[in-house]
Amino acid sequence: MLALVADRSSESGVAHAEVADPEPHPDEAVVELRATSLNRGELRRLATREEGTIPGWDVAGVVVQQARAGGPAEGARVVGLMGGGGAWAERAAVRTDRLAELPDEVSFSDASTLPVAGITAYRTLARGGMLLGRRVLITGASGGVGRFAIQLAHRAGAHVIAVAGSEQRAEGLEELGADEVTIGFDADGPDLDLVLESAGGESLATALKRVAHGGTVVTFGNSSGEPVQFDASDFYGRAPTARIYAFMVFDEIARAQSGTSDLRALAEMVAAGELKTEVSLETSWREPDGAIKALLDRQVAGKAVLTFD
Ligand SMILES: NC(=O)c1ccc[n+]([C@@H]2O[C@H](COP(=O)([O-])OP(=O)(O)OC[C@H]3O[C@@H](n4cnc5c(N)ncnc54)[C@H](OP(=O)(O)O)[C@@H]3O)[C@@H](O)[C@H]2O)c1
Repeated sequence: MLALVADRSSESGVAHAEVADPEPHPDEAVVELRATSLNRGELRRLATREEGTIPGWDVAGVVVQQARAGGPAEGARVVGLMGGGGAWAERAAVRTDRLAELPDEVSFSDASTLPVAGITAYRTLARGGMLLGRRVLITGASGGVGRFAIQLAHRAGAHVIAVAGSEQRAEGLEELGADEVTIGFDADGPDLDLVLESAGGESLATALKRVAHGGTVVTFGNSSGEPVQFDASDFYGRAPTARIYAFMVFDEIARAQSGTSDLRALAEMVAAGELKTEVSLETSWREPDGAIKALLDRQVAGKAVLTFD
């Protein structure tokens, strides 16, 4: 079969190659890909990925071989998550506890945005407990995770503050449910019950200065690539019992022992028109370079999707 594989000689970090078909374990179904979405994390990891291996975390497609242990039958439309990569190929072997069947109303393109970005938004917000009336600040709000997080936090009754990098990047965030949209944020301002922090560097330091007593800063990204410096005594002295939580989506799913219910819940919200996937760039997987560059250059408002024709 054809796949995109890590290739450091190419500018984008990937190239097409013929590879062996996946050999599924008993708990894995073989899915024929219809769409995958790009995630900043996997793009940044391309540089260190073993040459010739297949990247890709998000799967949307059709089951062509049912897992021997059961699960979605041949022909089922599914969405799934692959922790170790493997989704950027014509076919992928996906664990059935990382798969969910799709409602008919949800397109493959929309579905492909849900595994990493959707589950990350869903589960980082869950770290804040009950969100009704809570102040939730989301950095990187114009990106894939951020746009899901705004909608889900709004839906949960939070007062949502979205942080974007520029007026242009902030476009559309109020419509998604942000009560406030700010260009950057600083240490002055009301305390925050929950911060979803993915920019890193100064942004994380500022979050630690704004978190409320008993509040939570969930750190799950470092898009800026900058190290962070903060005054520990300022943190524990100003906001005793506040927590900082290190979040990795694949570990959260492993701990929950399944991603199926998250994927199903997100897909049902999309089907009901209650969650927008914000796909702003869709292109063929045969020409992925432009989409990869656009995402890395902060030119994508939401999600970029590769479709398989
Ligand atoms: N730990 C996990 O399990 C997990 C899961 C998913 C994602 N992540 C990480 O979380 C972050 C967000 O993921 P995503 O998929 O939403 O990425 P994305 O779509 O690329 O969005 C990232 C956003 O971060 C903002 N940003 C701020 N400073 C930046 C900088 N110096 N360089 C690039 N972007 C910057 C950009 O918004 P503006 O242009 O408006 O500033 C951009 O929209 C990424 O770092 C990703 O690797 C981690």
